[in-house]
Amino acid sequence: MELKFPIYFMASAILVLLHPKAGLAQTIAGPPSFSPTPAPAPAPDFVNLTDLFSVAGPFHTFLSYLQSTKVIDTFQNQANDTEEGITIFVPKDSAFSSLKKPSLSNLTEDQLRSLCLFHAMPHYYTLADFKNLTDLSPVSTFGGGQYGLNFTDDKGTIHLSSGLTNTKVSSSVHSTDPVAVYQIDKILLPEAIFGTDILVSDAPAPAPDITPVADSPTDATTGGHSTSSMNTSSSPRTASWSQWSRLLWAVPYGMMMLVM
Ligand SMILES: *[C@@H]1O[C@H](CO)[C@@H](O)[C@H](O)[C@H]1NC(C)=O
Ligand SMILES: *[C@@H]1O[C@H](CO)[C@@H](O)[C@H](O)[C@H]1NC(C)=O
Ligand SMILES: *[C@@H]1O[C@H](CO)[C@@H](O)[C@H](O)[C@H]1NC(C)=O
Ligand SMILES: *[C@@H]1O[C@H](CO)[C@@H](O)[C@H](O)[C@H]1NC(C)=O
Ligand SMILES: *[C@@H]1O[C@H](CO)[C@@H](O)[C@H](O)[C@H]1NC(C)=O
Ligand SMILES: *[C@@H]1O[C@H](CO)[C@@H](O)[C@H](O)[C@H]1NC(C)=O
Repeated sequence: MELKFPIYFMASAILVLLHPKAGLAQTIAGPPSFSPTPAPAPAPDFVNLTDLFSVAGPFHTFLSYLQSTKVIDTFQNQANDTEEGITIFVPKDSAFSSLKKPSLSNLTEDQLRSLCLFHAMPHYYTLADFKNLTDLSPVSTFGGGQYGLNFTDDKGTIHLSSGLTNTKVSSSVHSTDPVAVYQIDKILLPEAIFGTDILVSDAPAPAPDITPVADSPTDATTGGHSTSSMNTSSSPRTASWSQWSRLLWAVPYGMMMLVM
């Protein structure tokens, strides 16, 4: 390093000597630069959410709900607000196709709107920030007061709970201030809409009216591969264990059906 400095210095000195106009140009160019040349406007960090949800994912189902409820405008408006930013949790299309019960099909327009708003928070959070949110749970979402989410950190994997739905952040789709978009494995079902006594497929014990076999393929794809961008030191084992335990449940369940 000490040797390089004089060489660099000499090299630039020679350059200046060889190009005397370089030194001259500064004095000549000086006065005109006082004229109010507006500094180039900082390129706005505009993230087109519609574009993002069309290209990544697939998140077409979630996007179509956002569009039909016009919540996409609320989110885009917030995404444009570079002060606060936005954090959105997007369920993949497979989360919608595997949702047997409850159905979203007969929710009212207002309920659908609240469900969509429930999937975002009016602030930009990095994955590291979620660790802090675990202490603040329940954290309010765009849905407002009744629509809180609980965060827990399991060895670096962030789990979300709506009370009815337990899911995890399975990958980061976009995370540049002011817009954070994270993929989740399941649709967040708010208790404020669905009550507290609905059986969801992630209940600890298999419910008799849910076919565990139908759940396995989607879990295998979402749980297995999409965690790859996260710290996977512990999750594959738990994911495959839960798949095994589902199979273990499925066998006696299938036999029961045969007997009946
Ligand atoms: C965002 O992307 C969508 C889909 O490509 C396009 O229709 C829309 O005009 C874009 N919005 C803005 C503000 O650029
Ligand atoms: C967000 O910003 C873009 C680019 O500045 C603009 O075209 C768009 O209309 C804005 N959308 C909303 C909902 O504010
Ligand atoms: C939703 O639809 C199902 C069957 O399609 C029906 O049993 C249920 O009562 C409906 N729920 C509401 C809230 O309308
Ligand atoms: C998270 O909490 C720690 C300790 O409480 C604090 O030092 C840090 O600034 C917090 N980070 C954010 C993003 O709030
Ligand atoms: C969130 O955590 C709080 C405190 O641990 C608990 O009282 C509440 O029931 C939880 N809410 C949900 C939606 O899980
Ligand atoms: C992944 O987790 C392990 C143990 O939980 C930890 O030692 C390692 O630093 C983590 N790696 C990253 C990239 O977070």
